[in-house]
Amino acid sequence: MKKSLILAMMAMVVASCVAKDPKVLITYFSASGTTKSLAQELATATSADLFEIEGAQPYTADDVNLGNREARAFKEMADKSFRPEVKAKPDKLKDYDVVFIGFPIWGDAAPNIIYSFIEQNDLKGKTVIIFSTSGSSNLTNSFNKLKDQYPDLKLVEGTTLKRNPTPEARQNVINTLKEAIPAK
Ligand SMILES: Cc1cc2nc3c(=O)[nH]c(=O)nc-3n(C[C@H](O)[C@H](O)[C@H](O)COP(=O)(O)O)c2cc1C
Repeated sequence: MKKSLILAMMAMVVASCVAKDPKVLITYFSASGTTKSLAQELATATSADLFEIEGAQPYTADDVNLGNREARAFKEMADKSFRPEVKAKPDKLKDYDVVFIGFPIWGDAAPNIIYSFIEQNDLKGKTVIIFSTSGSSNLTNSFNKLKDQYPDLKLVEGTTLKRNPTPEARQNVINTLKEAIPAK
């Protein structure tokens, strides 16, 4: 066999062993736009695909009115077993190695629609990185509730972006989330 052919074959073997970038999907729910803009920035920073988790019945400003304890968000928060219908599923989820799930913290937990989304999509075997935005809460309690509910999933605690962040705090959140992506 010619030397050049042997070298070419060796190069192919080496290339197949070198780590490839994982395929990343960023999914998020956002009622008033904060999580949406963070998810968009993260998608740009990681060259990932983006998918918005939307209610079959869209969430309005009235639904998340903090001054009205009868608002939809509060009713959903009060019934942990309620699963709002999700509008659509992401395409070709099976092709992704890493799936981010982002949401606004509601009542120190992920909104019910996040539970709907997780239960309606096959995330087994994928690295699922959780992130959030919030007024002041940290992500840990919301994350632990998800971990307790879905012990078979490979959930990774990302971080939260708190209200009125400095540009530096915002960048730190993006960096932390980027660093949470495991090599393939
Ligand atoms: C119904 C409701 C409950 C909330 N509960 C919390 C909470 O427990 N802790 C917190 O820090 N922020 C809480 N917030 C504030 C949101 O997490 C925060 O404003 C978030 O960034 C909104 O994201 P969005 O614009 O993507 O919907 C709550 C907001 C709403 C509407």
